[in-house]
Amino acid sequence: MSNQESLDRNLALELVRVTESAAIAASAWMGRGDKNGADGAAVEAMRAALRTVAMDGVVVIGEGEKDEAPMLFNGERIGDGSAPRVDIAVDPIEGTTPTALGRGNALSVIALSEEGSMFDPGPCVYMEKLAVGPEAKGHVSIEWSASENLKAVAKAKGIPVSEVTAVILDRDRHSALIQEVREAGARIRLISDGDVAAAISTAWESSGADILLGVGGTPEGVVAAAALLSMGGEIQGRLWPRTEQERNLAIAAGYDVTKTLYTSDLVKSDNCFFAATGITDGELLRGVHFNAKGAITQSLVMRSKSGTVRQIEARHNFAKLSVYASIPYVQNLQN
Ligand code: FBP
Repeated sequence: MSNQESLDRNLALELVRVTESAAIAASAWMGRGDKNGADGAAVEAMRAALRTVAMDGVVVIGEGEKDEAPMLFNGERIGDGSAPRVDIAVDPIEGTTPTALGRGNALSVIALSEEGSMFDPGPCVYMEKLAVGPEAKGHVSIEWSASENLKAVAKAKGIPVSEVTAVILDRDRHSALIQEVREAGARIRLISDGDVAAAISTAWESSGADILLGVGGTPEGVVAAAALLSMGGEIQGRLWPRTEQERNLAIAAGYDVTKTLYTSDLVKSDNCFFAATGITDGELLRGVHFNAKGAITQSLVMRSKSGTVRQIEARHNFAKLSVYASIPYVQNLQN
């Protein structure tokens, strides 16, 4: 089978087992105050589950550089080694702090696309971001001011600016942005973490979010791009070096830190896959809930080629799974 033919399989349905496994492992650590313990459990569960997926994948977006957390490292080969050859972005816990503190909106996420199609963030840890759903797609620009974008979103959605909700990470670096959005008269949802869920929520009608603004992780921007490609939304970004040294490193590595990166620069493929499972309860997905038989998970599964977005609620029976499953749903809980 050619690489292209193998990519015609809907890999997202296999990937959801990976995020379910990582989310269950992570959620067992919910509220224990141990970010690294939770991350380690999620990474191990994700790695074990990935071994069972029929693909030849390379991790292009791993996590860990930012905070030296346990990670699936960049360049790590994953899958069972058979076609298709793919780029993979993983975030076993998107929201390690909310997981460790038992707060909402933590997800386990993975995105996959054709080999060579994912943006490599290199030394660029942070990116300025703007994300919107399908109605405002094509009507906004990261090169405009926040107030211009709020007006554009309001116009595209047929609502006044006062009804537009901007999601912004609650960080000191955003104080001028928050001030500007308030002065423009829009509503703000300040989030403590998790701008992948926030970006997705702009394209998820029931979430009530209209636009994501502000600086967040570059890897998270690539992951969000894969989801928004499937949902018909868009994300725009600009690399955001924190220091002169980081800027020089990025420039020396060939990055143009002034350039606008569009969704299709972050994931250059019309055939990408995305899966996310809730770890803790959030606006987008319920987190893992345990019961006498096992666990209930909620996930989103998408494919950009078809544009199908599935919401999957799974009931995991640990007694049955423990007999045969190569994915260590149960063992993770006993660690
Ligand atoms: P982690 O799970 O790696 O902690 O990332 C959570 C997150 O909130 C991302 O969603 C966001 O892009 C990034 O951290 C923002 O970084 P910082 O917390 O350093 O402002």
